[in-house]
Parts: sequence; structure tokens; C-alpha cells
Amino acid sequence: MSHETGAKTKQLIRALRGESVERTPIWLMRQAGRYLPEYKKTRAEAGSFLELCYNPELAEEVTLQPIRRYGFDAAILFSDILVVPDALGQVVSFKEGEGPVLDPITRVEQLDDLDLGSVVERLQPVYETVRRLKGSLPAETTLIGFAGAPWTVATYMVGGRTSTDQAAAKLWAYRAPESFQKLIDLLTEATILHLIAQVEAGAEVVQIFDTWAGSLPEAQFRAWSIAPTRKIVHALRAKFPGLPVIGFPRGSGALAVDYARATEISGIGLDTGMSPAWARDHLQPLACLQGNLDPLLLVAGGETMRTAAAHILKTLGRGPFIFNLGHGIVPQTPPDHVAELVEFVRATK
Ligand code: CP3
Repeated sequence: MSHETGAKTKQLIRALRGESVERTPIWLMRQAGRYLPEYKKTRAEAGSFLELCYNPELAEEVTLQPIRRYGFDAAILFSDILVVPDALGQVVSFKEGEGPVLDPITRVEQLDDLDLGSVVERLQPVYETVRRLKGSLPAETTLIGFAGAPWTVATYMVGGRTSTDQAAAKLWAYRAPESFQKLIDLLTEATILHLIAQVEAGAEVVQIFDTWAGSLPEAQFRAWSIAPTRKIVHALRAKFPGLPVIGFPRGSGALAVDYARATEISGIGLDTGMSPAWARDHLQPLACLQGNLDPLLLVAGGETMRTAAAHILKTLGRGPFIFNLGHGIVPQTPPDHVAELVEFVRATK
């Protein structure tokens, strides 16, 4: 298969296929970022956050920084889920201390201004970063590409920023589901093109981040999270049979069972609130599990962190399983605690 390299199959890919592993693979969401002094330095050199995302040399460097420090089993391409709306032609910027700011899309007619045809061309620097990483990553490290799920990206496009309730996108979806479907369809197509280009450039696994899946009631979760994700997975597998795909339907609770079944993802990211025992019983028969240490336990560190990590490993570790957090690393995380966690997971049988 074209997306596979290396003589011996990597541990993380084996886990995603449901095969036996020699040890529990580990990587952490947001493993590249502001908790690392070397990231802050490169980020300052790049200028803005988006300039960092579109600078292949610097984006490669920040992807490699956590690998050099901790030897994770996977590197995740350094980019952002909001490069897709940016490439579609929506104005996106990242404000210091505020997060992303977009010119909100509030009327269906505005969708005509977005240009699906130029997405892959405009995201060439991102694929160049992937190609560079293929040459620079250690042989045993898996390269993960990613995209936001259409629903989560839509919440930013419609709301214009991070919101706690995703009200703007939800109200559009409730009041005018047919026109909201047009936005979701456009994003589904853009996401397929973006992920295909990443795999062609050398990504071996892809993860689909549905950070705001948990704000949807059941019927809307099926329509706006499960259905588009299923389309994306099918389109990818039609081109790359057997491609491992990880879904992260954050906050989906018991609906994660239907999500795993319907989308046919290979792995499912568990959020912090998910019970490992429940996930073992209901989800592990369907997919490889990934998660789910609270990022704030990583800030706290020490015995409390190790006890929680031991519980997760004991409950899920028989596999298929990949150790990770329940959401991304936060900026106040002491880098030493990350080293401590990796050492602990590697030492636990
Ligand atoms: O190391 C990695 O995980 C790879 C890179 C990565 C980033 N963002 C870099 C980033 C990945 C996989 C993402 C995904 C992402 N981006 C998500 C889904 C996962 C999640 O965390 O829920 C979302 C919702 C976004 C959108 C986004 N990007 C927000 C809301 C913010 C602001 C919040 C914040 O942490 O600042 C960003 C900015 C961002 N993306 C940063 C990084 C390292 C920090 C920006 C900076 O360096 O100034």
C-alpha cells in the first residue's frame, strides 16, 4: 500500500489494525505547542501563527521538536483545522490570547464566494511540510495527517470564533437545514481533497477532529457529525484501501458506538469524560481506542497523574489501544511532566 513505509510495521499502525503490539504506542494531541520553549522561539521567528503553518521548513521543525524530546510513536503534522476555511477564501486570523477570528458566514449566498477548486493549490505548503517530514522522521515514528470534521470547522466559519455553545452554527442548522447542508457538503468535499493530498504526500494515518460533536443532540449528531465523517472515510478508503483513520468525536458519549459503527473508522479518540471501562466494553470491540488522560492531570503531574495513567493502561491496555490525552496539551504544562508520563507508560506492562 502506498501510504505504508518501513520494513517492520510501526507499533501505532499495528494497534490501529487491531494487531498485537510489543508495547503501548503513545503520542499526545497538541504535542507541538506553547508549552515548549523551542516552539515559542520558532513561532516568534515565523511571525504569525498562520505564517508558521504555511512555512514548510518551520512547520517541519515544530513537528519534530516533541519527537526529539520524547520519542513519541507518532508525529502529527503541524498545521491547523482552520487552514481549510482559509484556503476556501474566508478571512482567517489568529489573535494573540484570543484564538481564531474569522469573518463569519451568516448567509447561504456567501458560500458562492468560497472556492473549493483552489483548496489543494493553496495548501501546497502544508503538503510540502508532510513531504519534508517523510525524510526527517525516525523510521519507527508514524506520521499523522489531520483535518477538522465538517461540523467543527463549520462552527468556526459561522460563529467567527471559539464559542462555548456553538449557537450560531446550531441555529443555522435548526432554522435552515437544507442550506446548512450545503456548507457541510462543501466542507466534506474540501476535507476529502485535503486529506487525500496529505496521504499522497506521505501521511500514514489521518485523524478527524470533531471537537464540538458533543454539543449536538442525537438527530443532528447523526446528520452533521456521523454522516459527513462516514463520507470522508469512504472516499479515503476508495483511494487508499486499508488507510487507518482515527475519529475524535469529542463529547459524543454513548453515541460514539453508532459513530464507530457507521463511519468505520479504525480508531476512536476518547475524550476526558469517557469512562475507560465503558469504552472497553462498548467501543474496543469496534475500533482501536485512543486516550484519555485529562490534560490537567499532566499539568499536575506526580503520583496523581501516574495513578490515573495506570488506571487507563490497566483498563484499556490489552488493546487495541494508543495512549493519549482526552484533549490537547495546555500551554501551562511543564515539559518535565510529559517526559515523566512517557517514561511511565513505556515502563508499565
Ligand atoms: O501538535 C499538534 O497537535 C498539531 C497541530 C495542531 C494545532 N491545532 C496547532 C495549534 C492541531 C492538530 C490543531 C487542531 C485544532 N485547531 C483543533 C482541534 C483539536 C482541539 O484542540 O480541539 C481546533 C478546534 C483548532 C482551532 C484552533 N487553533 C483554536 C481554537 C486555537 C486557539 C486556541 C489555542 O490553543 O491557542 C488554535 C491555535 C493553535 N493551533 C495553536 C497551536 C499550536 C496555538 C497558537 C499559537 O501558537 O499562537
